[in-house]
Amino acid sequence: MRTIRDFNVANKRILVRCDFNVPLSETGEILDDFRIKKTIPTIEYLIEKGAQKIILMSHLGRPDGKTMEEFSLKPVAKRLEELLNKKVAFAADGELVLLENLRFHKEEEENDENFAKELAKLGDIYINDAFGASHRAHTSIVGIAKFLPSAAGLLLEQEVRCLTKLSNSPEKPLVAIIGGKKVEEKSMVIDKISEVADFVLISGLIQKEIQDKNIQFKYSEKIIGPVDEVGGGKDVGSETIKLFRGEILRAKTVFWNGPLGKIEEKEFSVGTEELAKAIIDSGAYSIIGGGETVEFVNQLGLGDKFSYLSTGGGAMLEFLSGKELSGIKVLE
Ligand code: 3PG
Repeated sequence: MRTIRDFNVANKRILVRCDFNVPLSETGEILDDFRIKKTIPTIEYLIEKGAQKIILMSHLGRPDGKTMEEFSLKPVAKRLEELLNKKVAFAADGELVLLENLRFHKEEEENDENFAKELAKLGDIYINDAFGASHRAHTSIVGIAKFLPSAAGLLLEQEVRCLTKLSNSPEKPLVAIIGGKKVEEKSMVIDKISEVADFVLISGLIQKEIQDKNIQFKYSEKIIGPVDEVGGGKDVGSETIKLFRGEILRAKTVFWNGPLGKIEEKEFSVGTEELAKAIIDSGAYSIIGGGETVEFVNQLGLGDKFSYLSTGGGAMLEFLSGKELSGIKVLE
């Protein structure tokens, strides 16, 4: 994969696709700026190397081709200014610019060739730093790369390196934890990761869906589900916490995506909190990902206790399922 370091960016206009799809409150406040922070190294790198102009672009939410104020990237521009201590022009002229939400244009999700050409006119080099959106074959991720020299940013490079190591040569024992729900999105990753993992621990909801739909896995003997529950399945019980903790404490590498209970209700977040603590106590190399999971540990103030937090949700699951992400393929 080509990376930002393969180009001389001095005096060039650099178009950078970021994933600033961050959770916002009803009043437009950013609830978790983790994804914004993770893009700062690429932006600082470009400033340091003398890029003439840096044009940042992203999507936010799913406005379906319509302009909707609640999906505006304005709060992101403000947060970027605070983090970089630098003026960020918003969809206007300046040396550091953030374009308004790309998905206000329906052409973005259609991977439209003319839209790609229009975007490409804004820069001399295209950098993809939006790992979290790289599974989408959209204009700013795929189409644009046809019209400009293109490469991965520092964040995309770091994500790919870390997740490739996890898939190919993790330090063993490896315990993977796949929580949350929607088995359709997760069965492929469960199947694939069980090829390298010693155990795959799953949430009660996933376990139930596997049973109801009679889903078969290559290594079903490695998949361990909860043995008790509280609140009618809204959280796992103490026996499960003990069982999961025991497996995790023996691991040298832990991968975790998705909560074990209904964490938006405090009383049902106990199992997930205990899981987070067990991972930290294990001292294993730990990789966690998925918006909800990362937000949860950051809210507990535990984010920096894990070895690596991925910015990818769906993108990370597809990557670990062994699929080639469209946005990465075009950089090869
Ligand atoms: C994400 O949050 O997973 C990415 O930003 C992609 O968003 P999408 O699922 O709306 O394409």
